[in-house]
Amino acid sequence: MAQSFIAQKTAFQHALLAWYRVHQRSLPWRTEPSLYKTVVSELMLQQTQVKTVLPYFARWLDTFPDFKSLASASEDRVLKLWEGLGYYSRARNLHKLAKAVAAMPAPPATPEGWQELPGIGPYTAAAITSISFGMRTAVVDGNVVRVLARLTANATEFKDGTSAVKTLTPLANAVLNPDAPGDHNQAMMELGATVCHRQNPLCTICPVLTFCAAAKQGEPEAFPVLTPKIIEQKAVTRVWCIRDGKLLLHRTAAGAKQLANLHELPTAEHLGLESSAFDKTTFVAKKKRGITRFTITESIHRSPAPRGKLAEGLVWVSVKEIETLTLSGPHRRWVTELLVATR
Ligand code: ADE
Repeated sequence: MAQSFIAQKTAFQHALLAWYRVHQRSLPWRTEPSLYKTVVSELMLQQTQVKTVLPYFARWLDTFPDFKSLASASEDRVLKLWEGLGYYSRARNLHKLAKAVAAMPAPPATPEGWQELPGIGPYTAAAITSISFGMRTAVVDGNVVRVLARLTANATEFKDGTSAVKTLTPLANAVLNPDAPGDHNQAMMELGATVCHRQNPLCTICPVLTFCAAAKQGEPEAFPVLTPKIIEQKAVTRVWCIRDGKLLLHRTAAGAKQLANLHELPTAEHLGLESSAFDKTTFVAKKKRGITRFTITESIHRSPAPRGKLAEGLVWVSVKEIETLTLSGPHRRWVTELLVATR
């Protein structure tokens, strides 16, 4: 199926690009684009939807309008502005990247050059260099995987997104429009995001319907074929400990892989306590959330203040100062809610 699709690639490229030029969403990194806006938007858009990114992007550009201003900011300020967007290593990497770029005579122009910078993998390097430098390199994300798997009715079962990306990257490169690689890449992503939905794709308005093998078979939603994720259940006990107008929080160590320098409600383990120390008499709230392949149930319990010297990472924070710290998104919501509820 892929061969007959590749044979029609010029007609496909023209239909896709003509659609994109008329129907693309007007996004702040597309109107008056710059390398800096492209880099910031592509990092924010990793694992995050456009509508979530929009207010963050606007605030970011107001606060840090270029690589230089970002490079000279403190890490705390950078993290605070990212608060709620998640995957905080992206913020730290963007900060490090700005410092590196600000120290160079000129930013790199090739995917290989960009991949040497923090937080830039093959996908982001391809996006940045095709959009900003016209490099002929295809971008393959989840949206593009879905579009390509449907165009070619690819029935391979992929064990995860990464293996689907790997398998479909040669096809993405084979059909890349050499005259407009940046717009072609953005058009593929845009088609996946706005027309070729996971469920209920809008085939009636699809600009490349005539090229689509899955639509011809009458079941576009059957592609791509992905092995179902096994969701694991996890339980976490957290403590709600408030004394003299101060709340006990845990600050993750600066060098940690995840959540470095972020504040969260401490877990029972952070206080050296077993979950069994808590019961319904100490119960405050139960919160459920999904992260990657886990469903996590977090039970928040009242706890007496720990005695003596606080264990590593634990800090007492005045309730008035909490808003100046950076908390992870869910913890910001829980703390805000519980400060009112337990007053
Ligand atoms: N997702 C990541 N980058 C994008 C872009 N430039 N356009 C649309 N969706 C995207």
